Amino acid sequence: MKRDRWNSKLGFLLAAIGSAVGLGNIWRFPYTAVENGGGAFLVPYFFAIITAGIPILILEYTIGKTYRGGAPVALARVNKKFEWLGWFQVMVAFTITVYYLAIIVWVVSYIGFAATSAWGTDPTGFFLGYLGISSSALELGGIQGNLVVPFLGIWAVTAFVMYRGISKGIEIACKIALPVLLVLTAILVIRGITLPGAVDGLNYLFTPNWDRIFDSSVWVAAYGQVFFSLSIAFAIMIAYSSYLPKDTDVVNSAFITATANHGFELFAGIGVFSILGYMAFTQGVGVEEVAAGGVGLAFMVFPAAINALPAMNGFIGVCFFGALLFAGFTSLISIIQAVISGIEDKFELAHKKATTIVLIPAFLISILFITGAGLNILDIMDAFINNIGVAGAGLLEVILIGWFFNTEKLRQEANQFSNYSVGKWWIYALKIVTVVVLGFMVISNTIGYMMNGYGGYASIDVAVFGWGTMLVCVIVTIILTFMKGKEGYADLSKHKEVE
Ligand code: ALA
Repeated sequence: MKRDRWNSKLGFLLAAIGSAVGLGNIWRFPYTAVENGGGAFLVPYFFAIITAGIPILILEYTIGKTYRGGAPVALARVNKKFEWLGWFQVMVAFTITVYYLAIIVWVVSYIGFAATSAWGTDPTGFFLGYLGISSSALELGGIQGNLVVPFLGIWAVTAFVMYRGISKGIEIACKIALPVLLVLTAILVIRGITLPGAVDGLNYLFTPNWDRIFDSSVWVAAYGQVFFSLSIAFAIMIAYSSYLPKDTDVVNSAFITATANHGFELFAGIGVFSILGYMAFTQGVGVEEVAAGGVGLAFMVFPAAINALPAMNGFIGVCFFGALLFAGFTSLISIIQAVISGIEDKFELAHKKATTIVLIPAFLISILFITGAGLNILDIMDAFINNIGVAGAGLLEVILIGWFFNTEKLRQEANQFSNYSVGKWWIYALKIVTVVVLGFMVISNTIGYMMNGYGGYASIDVAVFGWGTMLVCVIVTIILTFMKGKEGYADLSKHKEVE
């Protein structure tokens, strides 16, 4: 069966950058940075980019492009015994899909709310009321009627893009969304840095607290940010690069993707923190008193900051939520594609059929997130899937490939069409540095959740939505690994027609 292809290298790069640049860049990076030593965080952050981010990106691009399949099939072609890792990564991606979509649903509603400042003087109360939030993750509290229309709308657009496939769907969506995102973010940054108090926000973000640099949790946070932000270790980049022509320069593509992603992350951080600096200035308090991360930053703190602006409040609000929408949507479609490619390639299904098989369960499960318990479930799942799931998938990837495969062969494959050849440092970065840091990260996060639970939630909530999610991922991984695929799917030589 003929596989889809990117129309051009630029199309691939825009899709890969679109995948990397997401909600994680806008609301996760700035707060993670300030929580972990401000400017001093940039040291472990750049270290993580150089030792893990770029090397793993080169690795995933090389595997995808050379072995030409979604993560399970590509890894099975590297070594039949590695297929399960691809399925585990696919399951991590599937889990992220269902809650990532829910956040985009809120963002869409908030574009409308921002235009009229519908949140009034109490954005936090408004947000919790809007979600109809229940008191625990297990108390679903029914579907929230006001979320249904944006929910169905986002699903409709997502399904449309996914059914159209790589070149006619994802590539076109990213070519439209990325320039818009850049313009919206530039407006935020220009507005932000021209406000009084902006410099306090930026000082808060960038002033180094060197004491923190010896704290292992800061290094763990830096690696976590780089993995989520670059979309590595959850099957996406292997799938995306499998639609590239064989003669693509993967080393240069990895550097371009990482530079664009992290450059955007710093740029958006400047916009966010200068506006928070301004809000703190108008309230006469320190920036630390108004700063927050994640959902809290976007839906509670930022609306309050928008209220405080001297003019054009609605416009700036629409730009902020518009930026979240475009950044988030191009990541969402990549996460779903990682799952679709996995199914499509092992069972050699027609694209539309594979898409339906993935979208139906994803749709049904995502309904959980428009119930009153949505935010609580999301919070728990996100913590487990990132801190154990993505980190664990990354660790297993570097162990399997680094220690049980001929990395020198992969290095030659990476360099075959590359202008800049990666040296032996690449192998050591993967085999040793990344294994040690990720190993520490997975073990400490797992023990931490076992001993202390998570986020003050009841143990039963954490058991069901945290550990339960991880268990389901493992069980489905085992089932999919042992399911019989299309004859010869793990044998690259039988698939010459795709070259
Ligand atoms: N890389 C995507 C993000 O940062 C998943 O949100």
